[in-house]
Amino acid sequence: MKTRTVNLGPVEAIALGHGMCFVVVGKEIAVFRSRAGKLFAVSNRCPHRQGPLVDGVIDDAQVICPLHGHKFDLTTGHGSETGECVKTYRVWEENGQLILGGVQ
Ligand code: FES
Repeated sequence: MKTRTVNLGPVEAIALGHGMCFVVVGKEIAVFRSRAGKLFAVSNRCPHRQGPLVDGVIDDAQVICPLHGHKFDLTTGHGSETGECVKTYRVWEENGQLILGGVQ
């Protein structure tokens, strides 16, 4: 299946230690910028009860869902609860722009 690469705008739009949600081809994708400036992108909806992960607290490479506290590794998407996982996307900075890849 063909995948897309999308320019999401200036990286600086996301403050360090925060996230922002983008809708790309109908999918909600949460993009996070860690305090150290590392970028991560995952599906925004928590697999438990659809909590908005973008509103969660991020700690290094992990996000804590704001609704019931399940944790997700932002690198692998693996959750703290058995069988829970979120989809991850490739995201990087290019000339100050946030580029998202691998969106189908
Ligand atoms: S909705 Fe995310 S932990 Fe319940």
